[in-house]
Amino acid sequence: MKARASLHRDFLIGEIDDRLYSAFIEHMGRAIYSGIYEPGHPEADENGFRRDVLALVRDLKIPAIRYPGGNFVSAYNWEDGVGPKDQRPVRLDLAWRSKETNHVGINEFGTWAKDAGIEMMLAVNLGSRGLESARNFVEYVNHPSGSYWSDLRRSHGVEQPYGVKMWCLGNEMDGPWQIGHKEAKEYGRLADETAKALRGLTPDAELVVCGSSNDTMPTYPEWERVVLEECYENVDYISLHKYFGNKSKDTLNYFGKIEETGRYIQAIAGVIDYVKAKKRAKNDVYICFDEWNVWYHRREEDSKRVKSWDWPEAPQLLEEDYNIEDALFVGGLLNEFIRRSDRVRIACIAQLVNVIAPIRAERGGPAWKQTIYYPYQFASLYGRGRALRVSVDGPTYDCRVADDVNYLDVAAVHDAAAETVTLFILNRHLDEALDLDIALTGFKEARLIDHQVIEGHGRLQETNGPDAPERVVPRQGAGLGVEEGALRGSAAPLSYHVVRLQ
Ligand code: AHR
Repeated sequence: MKARASLHRDFLIGEIDDRLYSAFIEHMGRAIYSGIYEPGHPEADENGFRRDVLALVRDLKIPAIRYPGGNFVSAYNWEDGVGPKDQRPVRLDLAWRSKETNHVGINEFGTWAKDAGIEMMLAVNLGSRGLESARNFVEYVNHPSGSYWSDLRRSHGVEQPYGVKMWCLGNEMDGPWQIGHKEAKEYGRLADETAKALRGLTPDAELVVCGSSNDTMPTYPEWERVVLEECYENVDYISLHKYFGNKSKDTLNYFGKIEETGRYIQAIAGVIDYVKAKKRAKNDVYICFDEWNVWYHRREEDSKRVKSWDWPEAPQLLEEDYNIEDALFVGGLLNEFIRRSDRVRIACIAQLVNVIAPIRAERGGPAWKQTIYYPYQFASLYGRGRALRVSVDGPTYDCRVADDVNYLDVAAVHDAAAETVTLFILNRHLDEALDLDIALTGFKEARLIDHQVIEGHGRLQETNGPDAPERVVPRQGAGLGVEEGALRGSAAPLSYHVVRLQ
């Protein structure tokens, strides 16, 4: 099957914000406790953080991390997590019906994030609490000294302020499951007032207001319109969340969800433009896709377990085992983010360790990379620079969630400083190879410097695990090369490729 495509050095989508490859970690399950933090583990450092997990995190070159929740944040008292550990209260976390020891709080997490080389993106509680606790938190985190909350931080041994710029105004406030769930107008007003207060303390803050929890919510996309009409001028981003799965075992439909996500982004971009025009506003609001990932393998089972368990501490929760099919999907979804990077500035894989995560770690045992680690890592390492438009002309299919889906999914990124072009290519066809011809206008002299591939044909269900941590790894690709200014060759069915040219 032939598939042609074309890109041009000067036909730009725009400059990609590095934060497109950010992550999210929440106080839930074993993400923090026995995920990144496990005092007593043979790999624990002097602060109790696992060195083996940290090494896997560092290799992802994550620019920013959203913390501490998620649903958790909507009933979280940030003050519980500061000061002497032995005086911190154990609380009942209403979101996940678990015990929170508060052994990790903002200062421990700040130390970890610094060690990992990641910028923090903090969420405030606009569910059970509101503006007052949010402003105190920002003062504690960002004010240098000479005020109640900043001096309290200093008394906790943290002399320098963190200088956190990115702040999320609550989490999924449209969701009836959210503690302190609100109507759109009510939330929009609160977000607006909180935004003004936070900016008063941190003038260069970048503020994220909550959009819908996903595009199937009954209030979507009206929620976005109403909320933005209340706070447009005082915020910088609106959040999108979406989780994916292949419950119906229909691979083509699963992969069609990449297109469905593109429509979701486009719809919200339209709402942003509408509100901007209506308000005659000068500022731009961008999209922060701050929760995305595959979440379906254990979802139903876990939601039943949560309802019936008796407030456990750091329980196993949402520990999805990802297979090759999920890795191919994640590669394609990241391609969509690159293609939409003119509107999507920040995106966070949800989450990072153990809970719906690319990294898993056993309590007292080893840590390993899940299949989805690899496409996320490739995008983070090589997807920085200028996103190029790619026009595709090839065979298509229809599925439940989208029509005219190209079997060939491709994104291209030009790093002008390094003079490299990276093509991220997914062949979604179930059993036919694609005979590729991708014209590289403006990159005539380019030659192939690397080709990595993850092949899924006949092995879509394969996973990694503690006993086989490297069953699924990318391997050196073959069969693609540059000829007469075009990338040509064959891409096997159900395969994902990272092709780097210089
Ligand atoms: O990431 C898991 C949960 O998914 C988050 O707590 C919530 O924001 C979303 O519904």
